[in-house]
Amino acid sequence: MIHLQCIACGEKYGVDEIIYSCKRCGDLLEVKYDYEALKTKLKKSDWQRLPLSVWRYKDFMPIHDSSKIVSLSEGGTGLHPCKRLGNLLGVKQLYVKNEGENPTGSFKDRGMTVGVTKAIELGMNNVICASTGNTAASLAAYAAKAGIQCIVLIPSGKIAYGKLAQATVYGARVVQVRGNFDQALKIVLELSEKNRRVYLLNSVNPYRVEGQKSLAYEICDQLNHKAPDKVIVPVGNAGNISAVWKGFSEFYELGFISRLPQMIGIQSEGAAPIAQAVKRGRNEIVPIDQPETIATAIRIGFPISWKKALRAIRESKGTAETVTDREILEAQKMLAKYEGLFVEPASASSIAGLKKLIELEEIDKNEVIVCVATGHGLKDPDVIMQTCERPFEVDAEVKSVEVLLGPSS
Ligand code: F0G
Repeated sequence: MIHLQCIACGEKYGVDEIIYSCKRCGDLLEVKYDYEALKTKLKKSDWQRLPLSVWRYKDFMPIHDSSKIVSLSEGGTGLHPCKRLGNLLGVKQLYVKNEGENPTGSFKDRGMTVGVTKAIELGMNNVICASTGNTAASLAAYAAKAGIQCIVLIPSGKIAYGKLAQATVYGARVVQVRGNFDQALKIVLELSEKNRRVYLLNSVNPYRVEGQKSLAYEICDQLNHKAPDKVIVPVGNAGNISAVWKGFSEFYELGFISRLPQMIGIQSEGAAPIAQAVKRGRNEIVPIDQPETIATAIRIGFPISWKKALRAIRESKGTAETVTDREILEAQKMLAKYEGLFVEPASASSIAGLKKLIELEEIDKNEVIVCVATGHGLKDPDVIMQTCERPFEVDAEVKSVEVLLGPSS
């Protein structure tokens, strides 16, 4: 009922093969289901009575044995109606899906609960990834929960401290590579092909992104079985936008929603190969050798899942846009001040992108918009302390504080 399939040549593989790319043509793989059989299975299941979470959608996941599930209670994150921010920007129905509410503070947990469960099903006890920080933190946590070895490769220098602290405390072997994310990813791709004892959990792993598709399922369920008009997603290595589109497409195929949203990918100006390809109408990306942005999570020059991301954007009749570091920081502060949501810079790029697209008149004020905020702001507090007003010091007396209330009328 479930198999892996190459997105380019269509070659099929068994669901329990340890394989990260097509053996025939080298392209990306995705998990395929027999939707008629899945419909029958779902009719007999009580999934709609379960609380919102990744595992509410267990029947939609490529896992055989529920007893092996490695979970820290992921998913079920808030879809926050943002009236104040919507008014400010000029849209009537704005929602933020706040993925910082996940156990390690990012959407990666949706993928890792499924990916690490698959590793256990496959009998693997070594897992590895390259990461700009969040993937490392998440994999380290799930490996700890499962009691297996974990190695994470991070780029030297540019990684948010909170994420490094997480990966370290969960007990992963943290390896700092003298190079950027793209170089670190190349190493783990080669190593996992060469040495079959280690299981790769970057988003080329087709099982991991299956977990991430639950983000789309949840949005539909939170909007009373409707898809929004537009979903705006920060894009780095491009696994997530592809996963979220797969989730919407599957819910459509299964009859749970009656129309599909448009997918909008946002990249930082200094690391925007996908957005540039979309804007120029190209079918291929031009990789960027030295990607640069304050949003270190998406500081990626050669996104491994670019083909899936372009497909998601084109199939959904969506688009992609770039934002500057200044626009990202401004959006981060706006979301915090107007909605009480503190997200990391990469996450705020979806809000910055929304603002830009409204200014460009590419978004209608009556549309239902969901911005995905991918990770928690506390992961990278340094950025805030560099750009925001510092606390001011006063003498320890009431009157020094009372002046802050202003004159009484
Ligand atoms: N937002 C945050 C907070 C991220 O950490 C990432 C990716 C993205 C957006 C982009 O998602 O790669 O699926 O397009 N972080 C990866 C990491 C690369 O290693 O943590 P994507």
